[in-house]
Amino acid sequence: MQQQLASIVDAARQDSVAVTTRAEMEAFKARVVGPNGSLTQVMKGLGALSKEERPVVGRLLNEAKREIEELLAALLAKVEDAEIADALGAPTDPSLPSPEVPAGSAHPLSRTRERILASFRKLGLTVAEGPEVETEWHCFDALNTPADHPARDMQDTLYLPAAFRSADAPRKGAESVLLRTHTSSVQVRTMLSRKPPFRIVAPGRCFRRDAVDATHSANFHQVEGLWIDRQVTLADLRGVLDFFVKETFGPDAEIRLRPSFFPFTEPSFEMDLRSPNLGRLSGRWLEIMGCGLVDPKVLELCGLDPKVWSGLAFGLGLERIAMLVHGIDDIRHFYANDARFLRQFA
Ligand code: PHE
Repeated sequence: MQQQLASIVDAARQDSVAVTTRAEMEAFKARVVGPNGSLTQVMKGLGALSKEERPVVGRLLNEAKREIEELLAALLAKVEDAEIADALGAPTDPSLPSPEVPAGSAHPLSRTRERILASFRKLGLTVAEGPEVETEWHCFDALNTPADHPARDMQDTLYLPAAFRSADAPRKGAESVLLRTHTSSVQVRTMLSRKPPFRIVAPGRCFRRDAVDATHSANFHQVEGLWIDRQVTLADLRGVLDFFVKETFGPDAEIRLRPSFFPFTEPSFEMDLRSPNLGRLSGRWLEIMGCGLVDPKVLELCGLDPKVWSGLAFGLGLERIAMLVHGIDDIRHFYANDARFLRQFA
């Protein structure tokens, strides 16, 4: 009996070498421990043994069973490895990333911003940044925007409690701190801190107490430009904006300057864009930014001599440009964080 068991285990061990698939493993298992398996046959014969023999053979039988179980576990591991290798396509490189990892992509607003900055970079404008929490002086006073100007109204400006007043706030009568309503405050900070000539472009987040609808958001983004040099003229302004528009919307895009008013530019304009590649908006004049020559009073307030220095300035809304470029009809899509929307720009 002992010999019989040893030869069953030996035969199984030899037999197992040829097993490579799950089906072969099942067949092997049936041959040994199935209802008619070689080991099962021996177990069936246990009843015919004498009382004395039974515990001895039982112990040998358990040992043989354990060896067969070990053999089966090793076979299962071997078969599973082969199956995984097969699914991945051999040879397997376990250091490869899982093919299922979903990849993110840049947000459409970030992409639009990079595209806009890239075109201004070609004209030598470098990026300048400033704080989102701004003093009333940097946001309004220095930009020749008087205390009774509607832009300061509690209706559309988000003021912060006095505790937020910053160290560089206390300039006469303009100590309040607020969430900046435009990135023009970066222009003020640049004029105060750098020696002209310089050309900057200031991208950033802005805040207004706007009621949210398809075209308004309390949180939005601007890109503003400032170019300070000797004898900057309207021809320079037109040239810069025309270049930007052709870079961003294609060589067929045109611009038009319409007289307007801003407290910080004189003269001031609204710039309209017309392009044949804008879907259903093709061929229509679309207002996309404010611009003008820097008001001499602003230069003076920011410590530059208006008899020596002059400048051009412009400001546009990032969301508006991204909506035009991609044909997006609702500003709220940008902030909803819906992967189905975002994936379209990946
Ligand atoms: N700051 C203006 C706005 O927020 C835009 C602007 C910038 C206009 C520079 C003229 C010059 O609407």
